[in-house]
Amino acid sequence: MRFLAKAAAVAALTLLSACGEEKGGGGDAKLVVGFSQIGSESGWRAAETKMAQQAAQQRGIDLRISDAQQRQENQIKAIRAFIAQGVDAVFIAPVVATGWDSVLREAKTAGIPVVLLDRTIETSDPSLYLSAVTSDTVLEGRVAGDWLVKTVGAKDCRVVEIQGTVGSSPAINRKKGFDEAIAKASNVQIVRTQSGDFTRTKAKEVMESFIKAEGGKGICAVYAHNDDMMIGAIQAMKEAGLDPGQQVLTVSIDAVPDIFKAMAEGDANATVELTPDMAGPAFDLLVAYKRDGKAPAKWVQTPSKLFLPDTAAAEYERRKDLY
Ligand code: AHR
Repeated sequence: MRFLAKAAAVAALTLLSACGEEKGGGGDAKLVVGFSQIGSESGWRAAETKMAQQAAQQRGIDLRISDAQQRQENQIKAIRAFIAQGVDAVFIAPVVATGWDSVLREAKTAGIPVVLLDRTIETSDPSLYLSAVTSDTVLEGRVAGDWLVKTVGAKDCRVVEIQGTVGSSPAINRKKGFDEAIAKASNVQIVRTQSGDFTRTKAKEVMESFIKAEGGKGICAVYAHNDDMMIGAIQAMKEAGLDPGQQVLTVSIDAVPDIFKAMAEGDANATVELTPDMAGPAFDLLVAYKRDGKAPAKWVQTPSKLFLPDTAAAEYERRKDLY
């Protein structure tokens, strides 16, 4: 008898899944969200994880975080584990842009909605995810490039670029936006570009090799796809006897406390903000979706504001304990 009841329950569940119908559609039970996080490659990433935990706690959500150590295969394993646990939703910060369709299809078949955080994916089927909370990463690159073009004026400027993780949406798009912006000024040219994988250590090595290859004095500006890599590049420049922030212009992305400190000390020139509070808006749209069943906006865009040294000391004070 017990066996029959269990079999009936399994059959009902299977049917629900086959219909792609979603779970956790009502009631007062605590929402369970599995979050496949990339890792802790940068100060920004650590802040995003911390803020996700705080946002979950404030909303009474059971958040399960899996750290992928920057490997897509670990993310895919984690998503499969979340599906097996029967979570109510999965959040993913996708390390690279491609290769997600089959695991997302498994989530869809299991009736588990997926929300992308801070990075986007390339897919032929956008119905595989419910929504994406991200900035416009092309715009970030454009804001950085526009600032540089305006700042150098008519002067010739040889730029070195330190890219983020190869194949990740912010690396692809921040490059695209910056290239578009500097295309308007023939005096501003990227002379070297290489990936620093969004980490300080790798970026420092990359910058050392740029300095060696270019002869320090040939470099007019450094564009790094995140602030952590710029901090690594600043260290390399200082060790080589260069004067970042004065002799070599810097522009990067994230607006983390350390870059404001560098700006306040005259070692950096500009940053474009990327908020680490990605999970908060994602929880809110998920809760509304579970409550009303109405599809949320496919893209929740976070702002991309430029910050300069004039507000750096105040911004550092305001942010240092938040991150
Ligand atoms: O996807 C967002 C990027 O990833 C941040 O700019 C960077 O710091 C992080 O590693």
